[in-house]
Amino acid sequence: MPLLPEGHPEKIFREDGLRLDGRKPDDLRDLRIEIGVLKNADGSAMVCHGKNRIIAGAYGPREVHPRHLAQSDTGILQVQYRMSTFSVGERKSPVPGRREKEISMVIQHALEPVLFLEQYPNSTIDIFIQVMTADGGTRCASITAAALALADMGIPMRDLVTGVAVGKVDNKPILDLADYEDKWEEGAADMPVAVMMNEKKITLLQLDGQVGIDEYERMLDLAIKGAEGVYEAQKEALRKKYTSEIVGGR
Ligand code: CDP
Repeated sequence: MPLLPEGHPEKIFREDGLRLDGRKPDDLRDLRIEIGVLKNADGSAMVCHGKNRIIAGAYGPREVHPRHLAQSDTGILQVQYRMSTFSVGERKSPVPGRREKEISMVIQHALEPVLFLEQYPNSTIDIFIQVMTADGGTRCASITAAALALADMGIPMRDLVTGVAVGKVDNKPILDLADYEDKWEEGAADMPVAVMMNEKKITLLQLDGQVGIDEYERMLDLAIKGAEGVYEAQKEALRKKYTSEIVGGR
């Protein structure tokens, strides 16, 4: 992949119409997924999406702490999304800020619909997500990783959840924005989406920026198309983990 210019680029598309990293508007970044990366978690996954490096560990169902959060008629899902101090250009404070709390909450809401939480009264499923390197679209890549960590736990799920961001720069819709595209300000918008791929149900849709109805529909189509690529990689990673277990043992 060609090297990107240092700092903020002056243009967002190359002369040949491609993006600065050589992608077409509807191309995903490279995606590498590994399941079962944490020995001490009940389920785990690592997602390397572009330059994002994200690890998710899932635990449970287990007793809720603190106890007053327990609900006698259902289980709960608790999600903690955190960025490492070294994950971004400027040192990120280790103290969780508003952004991390908000992202933890939206990831929780994006994943809850695929779980049968009512089967685990008084219990919790906990997901811890650590962003080691951030390069745009970390909430989406975190959802992709967290859904796989849940699947790796072996609990029943209605579906997987797949995250992908779509947006526009210079008023052109593009799939899977890298950090430098996310920060572009002219004719720009950013729309993270999470989808239950079997049922084609959307469990997260946020929008930062302004888009017309036509643009919104085009961006949503692009997001679903992109999510299909991510979903294939998720399924392939699960297949690889479980066929290697059958052949070689855990
Ligand atoms: O990561 P995501 O796109 O879901 O969330 P965002 O708040 O729109 O952040 C976009 C990008 O800004 C992140 O992926 C990081 O690359 C970058 N960022 C940063 O450089 N410093 C921060 N404290 C937070 C985010």
